[in-house]
Amino acid sequence: MSKPVVLVTGANGEIGRTLLQRMHTDGRYRVVTVDLTPLPEKYRGFCLETYAGNIMDRYLLDQIAAHHEIEVVFHLAALLSTRGERDPELAHQVNVEGTLHLLRMAQNQSARLGRPVRFIFPSSIAVYGMPSVDEKKKVGRVREQDWNVPITMYGCNKLYCEHLGRYFTQYFRQLSALSSAARLDFRSLRFPGLISAETVPTGGTSDFGPEMLHAAAQGQPYECFVGPDAKIPFMAMPDAVTALVHLLEADRSKLTETVYNVSSFSESAGQIADRVRASFPGAQISFKPDAVRSKIVDSWPEDMDDSRARADWGWKPAYDVERAFAEYLIPTIRKRYGARSA
Ligand code: SER
Repeated sequence: MSKPVVLVTGANGEIGRTLLQRMHTDGRYRVVTVDLTPLPEKYRGFCLETYAGNIMDRYLLDQIAAHHEIEVVFHLAALLSTRGERDPELAHQVNVEGTLHLLRMAQNQSARLGRPVRFIFPSSIAVYGMPSVDEKKKVGRVREQDWNVPITMYGCNKLYCEHLGRYFTQYFRQLSALSSAARLDFRSLRFPGLISAETVPTGGTSDFGPEMLHAAAQGQPYECFVGPDAKIPFMAMPDAVTALVHLLEADRSKLTETVYNVSSFSESAGQIADRVRASFPGAQISFKPDAVRSKIVDSWPEDMDDSRARADWGWKPAYDVERAFAEYLIPTIRKRYGARSA
């Protein structure tokens, strides 16, 4: 069989593209991707092989597994929270059944290789459900084990898949005393809202942050779907990818849990608008809260306690809010939209 590879699902998405770029720069991994839509030429060049197809297609996954020795899976493909509320059944299919297909495939690979396939799974702030804005303010930073009562299909899906991953890692086929070398090694991160200078997300509820910024950079007006006081944590995309790679490379013996919060800065929609206006003085940002999307954002905590990730595998974001805007978001976005971003 050929040399081991890293399989990335949802490779053409927001996180995927930045991850492919990072792995290409690192030069340490041979990457195989699968996504519904074909990767643009630039990203195809970073990969050993790319598959355009659906993770619900078990035949496709079997084919990929038959052709490659997969030692790592980054399972990024998902339907985000607003999209999931529009089509909860589809969200469940993609986010849960799709994940189960990937877990099964990784499990088979682990048994075949005789060593645990590392399975990296981005989970989300959406697994939390704060009962009220008052409680949210009072609580501040939440720990992994608290407030696990999501109000979206996406949040429910992510929370359940975290459990599935833990189950596959520790208990799969426990009656037949399967050796732990033949089980997979599932590792998950709960991300806050992510902001990328390269792409605008689709179908999320934390999208107001990146949408505001990208609209201003293109000279377009933006009507924000939450009020100025709505506050959640965010993270710059390069930090999100660093977190994924560091968790992948962490020594298994140091990991005390399968799920880790990671966070970097918390801002309200109003504060983000002020930062955007400071860089793009012509920005036209108005607030027209949507009742349901606001309720979802209000159910997410103001901040996440990431001390477990810091202690176990040395997590530390490189970008606080000042640096994220000054050194990453604004300059990259200006370059991206060129002359339009006055
Ligand atoms: N960014 C995601 C969303 O808004 C949360 O993980 O759905």
